[in-house]
Amino acid sequence: MIVDRADFPLLANHPELHYLDSAATSQKPRAVLDALLDYYRCDNANPHRGAYTLSARATERYHDARARVARFIGVRDMDRVIFTRGTTESLNLVATAWGYANVTAGDEIVITGMEHHANFVPWQQLARSVGAKLRICGLTADGRIDLDQFQALVGPNTNVAAFGHVSNALGTINPIAELSAIARRVGALVVCDGAQAAPHLPLDIDHLDVDFYAFSGHKMLGPMGCGVLVGKREILEQMPPYQTGGDMIEYVADERSTWNVLPHKFEAGTPNVGDAVGLAAACEYLDGIGMAKVREHERTLTASASERLSAIPGVRVYGPPAADRSGVVSFTVDGIHPHDLATILDEGQVCVRAGHHCAQPLMRRLDIPATARASFYIYNTEADVDALIRGVERAREVFG
Ligand code: ALA
Repeated sequence: MIVDRADFPLLANHPELHYLDSAATSQKPRAVLDALLDYYRCDNANPHRGAYTLSARATERYHDARARVARFIGVRDMDRVIFTRGTTESLNLVATAWGYANVTAGDEIVITGMEHHANFVPWQQLARSVGAKLRICGLTADGRIDLDQFQALVGPNTNVAAFGHVSNALGTINPIAELSAIARRVGALVVCDGAQAAPHLPLDIDHLDVDFYAFSGHKMLGPMGCGVLVGKREILEQMPPYQTGGDMIEYVADERSTWNVLPHKFEAGTPNVGDAVGLAAACEYLDGIGMAKVREHERTLTASASERLSAIPGVRVYGPPAADRSGVVSFTVDGIHPHDLATILDEGQVCVRAGHHCAQPLMRRLDIPATARASFYIYNTEADVDALIRGVERAREVFG
């Protein structure tokens, strides 16, 4: 354990719980809950609007939260950090606002077969609407993006390449630099889904060659309902807004309107200040540990869980070796449906996700309906792996 379990009120309230579903959502440290409460108790007002001191304080808290998040992810120009509701909204923003302005019939959008639905369906729908072609890159037997195929798919008509940094279902850490370099050769827009990377890996987005990078706060100790889209400044400035209304305008004439500067142009309506403050507190907490240490801790637990699960007869672990995987272990047990397995694990207070993990195209490619997925974070220990193994052995007994 690299943090004190007592730092996490939910875990302290459930001392016997083995929470192995952080890829779905993480538990929150006291520091984040306190920051949320402190904002609402002391500084809550509608920012950017009031002439009074309290509103100015709310504006400052929102500004400071953005600056803190930008520092955590290695972005110097904080105006290109847009707050959204989460990764799903961030990716829909790009596919809608950039996509409808730039993708036309005959264009090609390249994605991969391991994408979460949030980085699949928005592109699929865009392609269907404008008559573009969606090209889906295949995977290798050990659950990586097939780079040769990716290279072959990206061609002169490709104008978007969208891929995940880390697979939510398999944990595969994808080679972002190589994928971007291939897309850059044809001048394609590069969009990266970082939902499963930002919580787990050291990030330096200014030095990643991507045009858009999306992630969610709730998977990285922050509150639900607050996420981020980082975009290249020149692209954000040139593209149309996603939603219109208050705060995102400069001037509204009767017939037309002009838009506010970044980041406000993409944040229509009253912003979610409280959750942004909470997310900033989460960044502070993670930086206090150090993301290299977070990664190393998860690598150790993932390697142990993969090895111990693989040693059980009938268990199959999916994805590449643990060294190339984030804190995710996706597996099946012969003769036991993952949902039944998750129910038996729950009897031992082991929480795992079972199902298609919002990645049905991946499940089809693996030729399985579902897996059980254990995912680790900073508050997990080898005792959680012990409980997982005990639960799987118990399920094998129950199902004969
Ligand atoms: N995207 C989340 C997961 O992978 C919900 O579980």
